[in-house]
Amino acid sequence: MKPYVFITRKLPDEAVEKLRAKYDVKMWEKEDVGVPRSILLEEAGRADALLTMLSDQIDEELLSAGTRLKVVTNLAVGYDNVDVEAATKHGIAICNTPDVLTAATADLTFALLMATARRIVEGAEFIKAGQWKSWSPLLLAGHDIHHKTIGIVGMGGIGSAVAKRATGFEMEILYHNRSRKNDVEMELGATYCSFEQLIERSDFVVCLTPLTEETKNLFTRDVFRRMKKTAIFINASRGPVVNEEDLYAALVDGDIAAAGLDVFAKEPIDQTHPLLGLSNVVAIPHIGSATVETRLNMIQLCLDNIDAILSGKEPKTLVNK
Ligand code: DGY
Repeated sequence: MKPYVFITRKLPDEAVEKLRAKYDVKMWEKEDVGVPRSILLEEAGRADALLTMLSDQIDEELLSAGTRLKVVTNLAVGYDNVDVEAATKHGIAICNTPDVLTAATADLTFALLMATARRIVEGAEFIKAGQWKSWSPLLLAGHDIHHKTIGIVGMGGIGSAVAKRATGFEMEILYHNRSRKNDVEMELGATYCSFEQLIERSDFVVCLTPLTEETKNLFTRDVFRRMKKTAIFINASRGPVVNEEDLYAALVDGDIAAAGLDVFAKEPIDQTHPLLGLSNVVAIPHIGSATVETRLNMIQLCLDNIDAILSGKEPKTLVNK
């Protein structure tokens, strides 16, 4: 009997074809709707390997659902949806997809920063709604990006790649991270500073930190009040790092100028969420790494990790070493 691999979302058949020669592979048949919890639990009970999405909760209940499960590969660099400690206790390998998505996610983060600063979405909506009556000096005037100060919270691979893009705009680069990064300081001229200094000095505060107990609810009203009134806040990490009620109040009361958000406390965010009603918010649906090339590379990395573990080899990107 071939080992059984369950994939929690419909992926392109061509991408998984090779795996089928060695394994019994089943995919949840829907592309845009997550697998129901009851089915995921059932599948976890019989699978040797799971390929999961960041929207699947991989917790103790799921990890102890069966006795065959050897590996869970999460199609994301972040793995805050996975109880890694429980997996380690059960001897289950957890893998993620770092590096292959770094450049695409940095591109998107910078695109979001630019779209927010230069009011691209508002402009596109304005013209489509037939509101453009004449060229005028301050029509949809936004904020300069070049020569401004960018403050990056979380200087991992994606943070460094965003910093690299910022050098092209001749920006001053500040960063805050658990540890100093000599390479980004040397190569990109980035300056390490405390979280407090960063939020007070930056024109663009860019959140790229993983979601952990320490970073949950990091951005509160008090933090937004300490930012410049012209500051633009960008979040491309995880929604719960931000207190959304506080962000809403900060945007409405003018504590900060605007926000660009790729991630939300609850995903998908409700269409009626107050943040979505603000003209100074650019909101996009968690598409940081969403390019065809990058997503195919991420899928391939997950499949390689599954094959490695099930063949008794070292996976490329093991989280619980
Ligand atoms: C990740 O991989 O963690 C990103 O959020 C996906 O876009």
